[in-house]
Amino acid sequence: MKCCAGSNCRAFESVFNASYAEDDLEDYRKHGPARATRMLLQAIQDATPVAGATLLDIGGGVGAAHHELLKAGARSAVDVDGSSAFLAAARREAERLGHADRVTYLHGDFVALAGEVAPADIVTLDRVICCYPDMPELVGAAAERAQRVLGLVFPRDAWWTRAGVWCVNLFERLRRDSLLFYVHRVAEVDAAVGRSGLSLRFHRRVGILWQVRLYVR
Ligand SMILES: C[S@@+](CC[C@H](N)C(=O)[O-])C[C@H]1O[C@@H](n2cnc3c(N)ncnc32)[C@H](O)[C@@H]1O
Repeated sequence: MKCCAGSNCRAFESVFNASYAEDDLEDYRKHGPARATRMLLQAIQDATPVAGATLLDIGGGVGAAHHELLKAGARSAVDVDGSSAFLAAARREAERLGHADRVTYLHGDFVALAGEVAPADIVTLDRVICCYPDMPELVGAAAERAQRVLGLVFPRDAWWTRAGVWCVNLFERLRRDSLLFYVHRVAEVDAAVGRSGLSLRFHRRVGILWQVRLYVR
């Protein structure tokens, strides 16, 4: 694992800590991937063959997206995460599932590490861009590395998600190493992806909070 420095990484370590990772892992083991993640995985499988594919799971958390795609026959995965607790939980789950030898773990801010990360057939950003200040940089770097598809889950652009994020950020600003949350404009996300030559293949709202968008090359 590489070291993660800078204010983004301090915030990831502070918010996405060991107890959060434990709870998420327990939830994944009991219930499987979240509803929006399941929709993302289905959209990926409908768009491209997963068997033998390489994966890049950016901000993978406990690794639901790459665990499921590895189970579906993907060849290998790289999991880049700014939280060492989440990376450790993802690795533990990979060991339990018997595919740890097919996953590479990188600790750090993907935007800083992108230059050392190889392109992959399938790239995922599942509920990640909502906690990163520079969405165009993050999405642009992810899109450049997507050889076949790029899948995103992020908050719906609605008054209630903006109001919720505003309230959360009010409390976050009071904390040391605070992590701010963002609701991005869909047109701006599409533009950041489009600069790398990918086009939209699938989009769907999931409940009142999330949306899934899948882009193909
Ligand atoms: C809300 S969690 C989502 C985890 C998982 N993808 C899921 O959907 O369950 C966001 C994760 O993204 C990571 N993250 C956010 N921005 C990142 C970045 N620029 N580079 C690496 N990891 C990032 C955080 O550390 C955290 O583990």
